[in-house]
Amino acid sequence: MTSEIISKIEQLKSEKNAIILAHYYQTADIQDIADFVGDSLALAQKAQVINSDIIVFAGVHFMAETAKIINPKAKVLLPDLDAGCSLADSCPAENFKTFKERYPNHTVISYINCTADLKTMTDIVCTSSNAVKIVNSLPKDEKIIFAPDRNLGGYINKLTGRNMVLWDGSCEVHDILEAEKIVQLKIENPDAKLIAHPECQGAVLELADFVGSTSALLDFTNRDSATKYIVATESGILHQMYKQNPEKEFIIVPSDEICNCNDCPYMKKITLEKILYVLENETNEIILPDDVMQKAIKPIQRMLDIS
Ligand code: 13P
Ligand code: SF4
Repeated sequence: MTSEIISKIEQLKSEKNAIILAHYYQTADIQDIADFVGDSLALAQKAQVINSDIIVFAGVHFMAETAKIINPKAKVLLPDLDAGCSLADSCPAENFKTFKERYPNHTVISYINCTADLKTMTDIVCTSSNAVKIVNSLPKDEKIIFAPDRNLGGYINKLTGRNMVLWDGSCEVHDILEAEKIVQLKIENPDAKLIAHPECQGAVLELADFVGSTSALLDFTNRDSATKYIVATESGILHQMYKQNPEKEFIIVPSDEICNCNDCPYMKKITLEKILYVLENETNEIILPDDVMQKAIKPIQRMLDIS
C-alpha cells in the first residue's frame, strides 16, 4: 500500500513538475520521499531557487507561506491546512501592532515561525540558524523588539549582550521540556552529551553541551566524537541522526511520563496519503493577498541577503 502511494507520488511529481520540500520534524517516510529535507532556513533558501511549478510543503503553515512569498510563481500546496504552529499562533498580528506602538524607534526582528501578517510588521526575519548573525548585523545601540519566541530571544540576548524587548510567545513542543527531567537523564547517562534547540527554556539551555538549530544539532552529532546524546528537541530529527550515525545512540527528552517521544502535533498532521491527495487534486493552495506578499518579502529577503 505504502509503496503504491509512493510510486503514485513519484509519477505525479514528474508529470506536474512538482517538488516536495520537508522539514526535519516530518515522519521518516515523508523525509525519505522528499526531494529536499532541511531546517527552516535551508527550506526557505531552497524554495527561492527552485523552478518547479508546484511545491508540496511537508511542514507547517508559516513555512508554506514563506515559500509562497519568496517564490510567488509556484503553486504552493500544504497537505493539511490545519498544520499550524503554537509559536506563530502565540503572536496575533493585531496584538503585536499594539505592542509595537509601545516601543517607538525599535527595529523588529521576527523569528520565521510567525504569520505572514506579522512579517509585514517586521524589519528583518531570522531563523534559529542565523539569529545571532542577524542581531549582530545591527549596531550595538539599536533598540530591538524580538518576536515571537521568548526562549530564543532570551538566549540571543545572552549571547550578544543585547537587551531586546521580547514578545512572550513559545513553542509548545520545546517549552514543555523540563530541566529536572534532563538532569535525571544526565545522571542515568553520564557518558551522553546534551544537545538542545534554542526554543527550549533557558534552564534547559544552561545545561546543554551544544545549542543549535535543527541542522546545527545534526551537524554537531556528525562531527562530534561522543557516541551518545540526550536530544532536547522534536523527535523527527532522530531519523536523520540515526541515518547519518547508525553506530551512535540518541535519547530523546520525553515530553511526558507515558510517551517516549516528543512530537509536534502540527508537523505530524502531514501524511503520505495527504501529500498524494494534494498532488492529485492541487488543493490546499497557499494564497496570500498581494499587499501582504509585497510587504512580507522585504524582511525575508533582508534575512536571505545577510545569510
Ligand atoms: P529550525 O528548523 O529552524 O531549527 O526550527 C525548528 C522549528 O521549530 C520549526 O518549526
Ligand atoms: Fe511550531 Fe514548535 Fe511545532 Fe515548530 S515544533 S512547528 S515551533 S509548534
